[in-house]
Amino acid sequence: MSDHDQVKMTTMNYEPDRPPAENPLKIEDLTLRDGHQSLFATRGRTEDMIPVAEKMDEVGFWAMEVWGGATFDTMHRFLNEDPWERIRTLKRYIKKTPFSMLLRGQNLVGYRNYADDVAEAFVERAAENGMDIFRTFDALNDYRNFETVVPVIKKCGKHFQGCICYTMTEPRLGGKVYNLDYYVAKAKALEDMGADTICVKDMAGLIAPYDAYDLIKALKENCKVPIHLHSHFTSGMSPMSHLKAIEAGVDIIDTCMTPYAYRTSHAAIEPLVMTLLGTSRDTGFDIHKLAEINEIFEKEIMPKYKHLLDDSKVSIIDINVLLHQTPGGMLSNLVNQLREMDALDKIGEVYKELPRVRKELGQIPLVTPTSQIVGIQTVNNVLFDDENERYKMITDQVKDLCYGLYGKTAVPIDAEVQKKALKGYERGEEPFTGRPAEILEPELSKAKEEIGDLAIDEDDLLLYAIYPVTGKRFLKWKYGKETPPPEVMPKTLDEAKKEEEMVRKARAGELVEKKTGELPPKSENLRTFNVFMDNEYYEIGVDEVGGSPVIAYAQPMSAAAPAPAAPQSAPAAPAPAAAPSTPAEKPAEKPAETAPAAPAGSVDGTPLVAPMPGMIVDYEKAVGDAVEEGETVVILEAMKMENALPAPCSGTIQAINFSSGDSVRKSDVLCVIG
Ligand code: CO
Repeated sequence: MSDHDQVKMTTMNYEPDRPPAENPLKIEDLTLRDGHQSLFATRGRTEDMIPVAEKMDEVGFWAMEVWGGATFDTMHRFLNEDPWERIRTLKRYIKKTPFSMLLRGQNLVGYRNYADDVAEAFVERAAENGMDIFRTFDALNDYRNFETVVPVIKKCGKHFQGCICYTMTEPRLGGKVYNLDYYVAKAKALEDMGADTICVKDMAGLIAPYDAYDLIKALKENCKVPIHLHSHFTSGMSPMSHLKAIEAGVDIIDTCMTPYAYRTSHAAIEPLVMTLLGTSRDTGFDIHKLAEINEIFEKEIMPKYKHLLDDSKVSIIDINVLLHQTPGGMLSNLVNQLREMDALDKIGEVYKELPRVRKELGQIPLVTPTSQIVGIQTVNNVLFDDENERYKMITDQVKDLCYGLYGKTAVPIDAEVQKKALKGYERGEEPFTGRPAEILEPELSKAKEEIGDLAIDEDDLLLYAIYPVTGKRFLKWKYGKETPPPEVMPKTLDEAKKEEEMVRKARAGELVEKKTGELPPKSENLRTFNVFMDNEYYEIGVDEVGGSPVIAYAQPMSAAAPAPAAPQSAPAAPAPAAAPSTPAEKPAEKPAETAPAAPAGSVDGTPLVAPMPGMIVDYEKAVGDAVEEGETVVILEAMKMENALPAPCSGTIQAINFSSGDSVRKSDVLCVIG
């Protein structure tokens, strides 16, 4: 071991109170942000962080990441939690360890660049609420997108951690675009901006151990500030990369507590503590303390979240990252999107198309939001293009990217794709090359006007400014103007355990008592009824036998719209009800008009159907408005990307079936044009 430049065996004292090492490796714990974001769809609730908070504060972490990234979105959208309140609550329990947040540069905690006034106010409020370290990244590594937030971070006296998104065009570090020179130049640029630390952000777990060594060594030689490595486990390489980075002198490494570690998350802390015990880079952590925390997670917290873990595969390593460089989160999004569209068989084509789309869009790193931008455009291309035309359905975000609204891409965007995307683009057909937010109008005063008294303070206002549709809905829940639906309410440990038991029984086939025996013959008195439930209907035959009616058969029928997708966590339950094999005689005229949620059901005209599942952002037209073929009628958000859906024909809007904020399934009729 003495051969390694940075790590030497120094002591045989392994007691918890051993004297500090020469140059202890610093650890940032990610459990309460990236950990549950990576493994449990960011669904961790504040109440489930409190039982471990004080103990985690005692470990000696350099920082704990507890906020930012997807938490802000998920909390108000799915958990009925005020994101700002989480910082204040955790601060009451975690008093010594600095808090870190993931800030998406000018995208803040959303998916587009916000105007400067929103960005400034957001950073100020985050600092005021208790944030200490601002881990700041830009998906294009275009640091002009830091120019607004960094001075505010500094003004508030907080720590600016500048990130370099790690990406590649080759199987290993190098090549024409993302080589050592590229990363060193980016690091120097961050140092010039006043970065207090520099973080290599390897969001897909792409960095190979020897590349990590070379990269960290080069950064240590060229930069004065501490170097931090954030490398997801996804590909399985990160524990090896961590060790090589430590040998190259890395200052800080990111890990998770064991129950939140591995898979698409990060390596666990405990093996690293043991690896470095007694060396010059000893973390100094007490492994027994870590074990106590893990026990609380396992017994009191994990039962509520286990069902969210994607256990469809036994393997904890995602080979696809090594093959296709597709980040874990992006991959599961793509798979879900394809599954909901009944096109899972196209995944191979998606893998083939993805590097092509990425290259055409300027060889950009794949990280939120560019992973979604490239991902959904790839899905659109695979599903909607034909041999004569590519990029048939271009998302608004791809148009914005082509215009320059996200910043400068590593290599120029393909000229033909750019031209097509910008045809008729509202800001102009000539791309813009300045700092993106320069051309964004201030947004706060307009937001204030729109939301009015529903936003009590600036935190509410920012929530609305960043997430207008779901933010407004949350504020209505928060101030008792609307009752939150049951699915956003927290579960107790008891309820979670009961649910788990139900799922186990369902899986074992113990939930449904199957009737055995012969079917009675149908009499000529058999009468049929259509029973409508949500978006399905059942045809039921009722026969009166000995005075009491008997349900002869019940069979789900496919209505015009597909049956609602099963909830994510639903077990593969047996078919509902006892449906005898007798096929139902269909009603003479199968009523297509009985489509669900169809106030427009009886309206004549051409339907505009949802090409994919998603959420309605807004209708640009109202009933009675005239539209031209191709004109945008409705904006549909799918996988966080907005799609402007054009009118399939010219005419007048006869009916509108949904409103802003509604979720729709593929093929739902969004409106009718006649
Ligand atoms: Co991460």
